[in-house]
Amino acid sequence: MDRRDALKVMGTSLAAAFMMNVAPRTHAAILKDRAKDRKRIVFYFTATGNSLFIAKQLSDSPLSIPQELKKADLIYEADEIGFVFPDYAAAVPVIVREFVEKAQFKAPYIFSVITFGNASVNVAEWWNDWARSNGLNNNYINTILMVDNYLPVFDMNEQIKIDKKTDENMAGIIGDISGHKDFIAPSEMGWFTKEMLQGMQDMHFSQKSEQLIKLDADKCIQCTTCTEVCPRGNFSLASGELQISGKCEFCLACVQNCPQHALSLERERNKEARYRHPDISLNEIKRANRQ
Ligand SMILES: Cc1cc2nc3c(=O)[nH]c(=O)nc-3n(C[C@H](O)[C@H](O)[C@H](O)COP(=O)(O)O)c2cc1C
Repeated sequence: MDRRDALKVMGTSLAAAFMMNVAPRTHAAILKDRAKDRKRIVFYFTATGNSLFIAKQLSDSPLSIPQELKKADLIYEADEIGFVFPDYAAAVPVIVREFVEKAQFKAPYIFSVITFGNASVNVAEWWNDWARSNGLNNNYINTILMVDNYLPVFDMNEQIKIDKKTDENMAGIIGDISGHKDFIAPSEMGWFTKEMLQGMQDMHFSQKSEQLIKLDADKCIQCTTCTEVCPRGNFSLASGELQISGKCEFCLACVQNCPQHALSLERERNKEARYRHPDISLNEIKRANRQ
């Protein structure tokens, strides 16, 4: 949409709002409405709600990747197919990759929005290359800055105070996708080298939950939150006490969402501070990830 069209849409919307005596809708809402005549499917993966918050701005009913993975025939066809997930060490969560490997996607326009908290480095390029070599050709990949939920390095109490301009940036992304823009976010390597990133990825993607997650049994009230928010089903209360085992996604949904602060990592910036996106409920995380 060019500037003239945009002004026309905004002018009509303001006039209509004036006549109806209601507040005018935002530019983003107008663009979202326009996409409604196209069939759009949006898939997401989330641990602390950032990616679900973004996915909900792109679709009224985004589909959770951990839930879709339980289905038998993973064939999806639409006018637009989108993916929203977090950046993990300038790469993509294993569960998202597993989904792409197992499923088939047919759409003339494919987009991805990657949420990140501090430095996206070359994650868009990484995802573009990986997805392409697995048969998924993205037309558009962008990144969006949000709270960084990486507990070893960041204090959640500090992170929530920083204005990351998410709404402004998201309005741009909604416009891009609505207009079927072709774009892959450029890499900003800074002081990172590809070897350093590979080392970080090897470390993060080879963890076992029983080694990574520490339980304080005195604090645990067996509320089952961890058993429901883990996308890998690595927590169990079947034996009467909490058992933790299995290949870990390193998403930190268990640690971040534990209401008792009974779960932690060996080394954290602030063990007292936990995060979930303010507009996403614990139930939404459970529904998205429970196994
Ligand atoms: C294991 C792990 C690795 C991460 N790596 C990065 C990173 O390399 N760069 C970055 O900016 N954010 C990184 N993050 C932060 C998340 O990408 C960011 O907070 C994201 O929005 C969380 O999304 P969610 O709330 O949907 O789970 C990492 C988080 C985790 C848990």
